Amino acid sequence: MRSPELTRDEIAARVRDLGDWFHNFDLKGVKTAPDHFLGDYPRIKWERFSHVVPASLHGKSVLDIGCNAGFYAIEMKKRGAERVLGVDTDEAYLAQARFAAEMHGVDVELRRMSVYEVGLLREKFDLVIFMGVLYHLRHPLLALDLLHRHVVGETLLFQSMLRGSPEVPDVAEDYPFGEADVFDIPGFPKIHFVERRYAGDSTNWWIPNRACVEAMLRSAGFAIVGHPEDEVYVCRPRARALEEVAP
Ligand SMILES: C[S@@+](CC[C@H](N)C(=O)[O-])C[C@H]1O[C@@H](n2cnc3c(N)ncnc32)[C@H](O)[C@@H]1O
Repeated sequence: MRSPELTRDEIAARVRDLGDWFHNFDLKGVKTAPDHFLGDYPRIKWERFSHVVPASLHGKSVLDIGCNAGFYAIEMKKRGAERVLGVDTDEAYLAQARFAAEMHGVDVELRRMSVYEVGLLREKFDLVIFMGVLYHLRHPLLALDLLHRHVVGETLLFQSMLRGSPEVPDVAEDYPFGEADVFDIPGFPKIHFVERRYAGDSTNWWIPNRACVEAMLRSAGFAIVGHPEDEVYVCRPRARALEEVAP
């Protein structure tokens, strides 16, 4: 697929028409989110963990959930993935992703879909990317359960915003009912509920600490095999016993 022959002014106009961008791309000199509060995002993040993704994804299928304007989906296609499907609930972001993919000359399938609907895909993917979405969900553990059950074939690449203690203390198998102090030790798995807004965003619902996000991944049936960056995890699905699986 060849990128379209557009002048710089035409690209700038398309970028403007597509609204506010969260992903910053440099499209032939036109930056899509030049004033991003996190800098050149997500490129600066990607550079901290890109080494954990195989340099060649030839023959592999990739599902990017909450793909936004498609930064990761496009990177996977650049690494030769045979098929990349990006899904998001926000049609405005998907329109940005369509234009960004076109400008990069890559073929990315894009579909409006929620993470809660991944069962409809009836397909397991070699690599599932689930970056920056968990804390935007009202039902985060359900989403992880659904990923495990329906779509993660080999690898889950996961990221979440984290808040609270970065410690990961040993947690016992069980505690007596009278034990209450353990809940106050720094790093006990905790997830913070945001009833109103965080960072001006009313879709930030649940923000875990590090121990909690690791426990949630394990509880949903994922073995953590890599932790290349503070917020990023590489996971493999493991078989779950019947009694572990959500009804
Ligand atoms: C913080 S952005 C992360 C974008 C990208 N994955 C990244 O890491 O840069 C969160 C994205 O998740 C999408 N999203 C929110 N709720 C979703 C849901 N239930 N299913 C799929 N995507 C969702 C939003 O529309 C947004 O594009």
